[in-house]
Amino acid sequence: KSNGSIGKEITLALIKPDGLVGNYSDRIKDIILESGFHILRETALQLDEDTAATFYVEHSSRSFFSSLIKYITSGPMWVMALEKENAVADWRALIGPTDARKAKITHPDSIRAMCGLDLEKNCVHGSDSPQSAQREISFFFKDVFSGGFITKHDEL
Ligand code: TYD
Ligand code: MG
Repeated sequence: KSNGSIGKEITLALIKPDGLVGNYSDRIKDIILESGFHILRETALQLDEDTAATFYVEHSSRSFFSSLIKYITSGPMWVMALEKENAVADWRALIGPTDARKAKITHPDSIRAMCGLDLEKNCVHGSDSPQSAQREISFFFKDVFSGGFITKHDEL
């Protein structure tokens, strides 16, 4: 696998609206930096419903979709592109399982156990594969994969 000039993997991390409301951003960022990630890009933004539906299009036929879109658009999020060797899997390991209620039992040291509430309000997002990461990072940070940073035909 080739990734141009950086030689490392990139993943998308979101601190979802409840994570910001609960003031977890600083603690989550400390964990990110202590774990050896470089924050390549970061910004705060609030998605509108159409944009959120595009971001989560893979879930559009699921019963939880409309509730998910309502939640994710309910307030601002903190969006980060995180760079590190094995960034995708390592960030998923740090955030823990999707259901924050279960995470509190099975992965008490995970980020979702710390700041999440349940299966929907789980306070953070992580890309599930390098392919998803490329799509999701391009979604928020259009410049990352242009301008020779990662060349056109490289796969993450
Ligand atoms: P998913 O991609 O399965 O989980 P993850 O965020 O761990 O990759 O689902 C995307 C989001 O959709 C998830 O973070 C929370 C929400 N969700 C629900 O609200 N109900 C559900 O049953 C599932 C599976 C997900
Ligand atoms: Mg997912």
